[in-house]
Amino acid sequence: MNSGEGTGEASGDGLKALLPGDAGARLQSLRLIGGRAILVFDAAGLGSLARERLEAEVKGALSGAAGVSEVHVAMMADKAEPVPAPRKGPRIIAVGSGKGGVGKSTLAANLAVALARSGRKVGLVDADIYGPSQARLLGTEGTRAVAHQGKLVPVQSPCGVPVLSMAHLTPPGQAIAWRGPKIAGALIQLVEAHWDNAELLVIDLPPGTGDVQLTMLQRFKPDGAVIVSTPQDLALMDAARAAELFTKGGVPVIGVVENMAGYACPHCGEVSDPFGSGGAEDAAREMKVPFLGRIPLHIAIRREADAGTPTAAGESPQAEAFAALAQAVGEWLDKAP
Ligand SMILES: Nc1ncnc2c1ncn2[C@@H]1O[C@H](COP(=O)(O)OP(=O)(O)O)[C@@H](O)[C@H]1O
Ligand SMILES: [Mg+2]
Repeated sequence: MNSGEGTGEASGDGLKALLPGDAGARLQSLRLIGGRAILVFDAAGLGSLARERLEAEVKGALSGAAGVSEVHVAMMADKAEPVPAPRKGPRIIAVGSGKGGVGKSTLAANLAVALARSGRKVGLVDADIYGPSQARLLGTEGTRAVAHQGKLVPVQSPCGVPVLSMAHLTPPGQAIAWRGPKIAGALIQLVEAHWDNAELLVIDLPPGTGDVQLTMLQRFKPDGAVIVSTPQDLALMDAARAAELFTKGGVPVIGVVENMAGYACPHCGEVSDPFGSGGAEDAAREMKVPFLGRIPLHIAIRREADAGTPTAAGESPQAEAFAALAQAVGEWLDKAP
């Protein structure tokens, strides 16, 4: 007499074919003895809920099959606890623009602060290697970053957003005359720093489409990009070019922000549009990317930027504009896979 395995109306292989695909993939052994199907599964990495679901699926699939009177399921795992997924680094949002002077750095700093205010753990990387400005914008000028175990430690800013910039590495006023590979090396140091608690890095890219942007795209593949433009036609053409760079690199464009839109006269309150207005919204529509909103041209934004007390950390209609922008970006992040 044999053990009964593979005998009777149902064969092991016949039963195997009844299993759902993911259960089949985890199956280690299946024996059919006297009407009792005994199945052993590799449950490595499955939590208790997933194990229960697997067992229920298997029982559902096999009970009632010809020759099966009972189904026994055993789970084998190297570890009793589910294996946590390896921790990924922080998500990355790149802030880019086609040209300089559109307020990209100001916007990156205030976006980071507004995102932090909305409860996210945010860090800010100044990737403008030749023209760093985030040390000033976040009030950390003169602070030198230290390294710990071969990695930089971000500088804590008064408004609570940790930041790293070339300005934290080089003595003030010293010109940086590096070329391609060294530039890439510097960028990597800034991004691969001890951002331990940050879930999100906002990266202030230099304007245009050079080495830094390419390194950023190839090595770090940001989760999304925010494009900053003024309402002028010329700036908008450059913005379209910047958006194309990201799209080609497989980085989704979160949307376009119009900065310096509408000037409110601090004396009479009258709003005028020195650069026109609405242009960025039209351009976003043409580029088929979302329009994220407008930040007004306001003297307080410039003053607060120069003073290292970002507008978004205070209470004002301008701060609210940054908060609205942070909300739009946050919603995008929550929906993105
Ligand atoms: N919305 C705004 N209102 C007033 N001044 C602004 C605004 N955005 C930027 N600025 C000012 O414009 C100048 C250029 O901004 P910056 O952020 O350095 O631009 P970019 O990084 O694009 O070169 C700075 O003096 C900054 O304070
Ligand atoms: Mg800048």
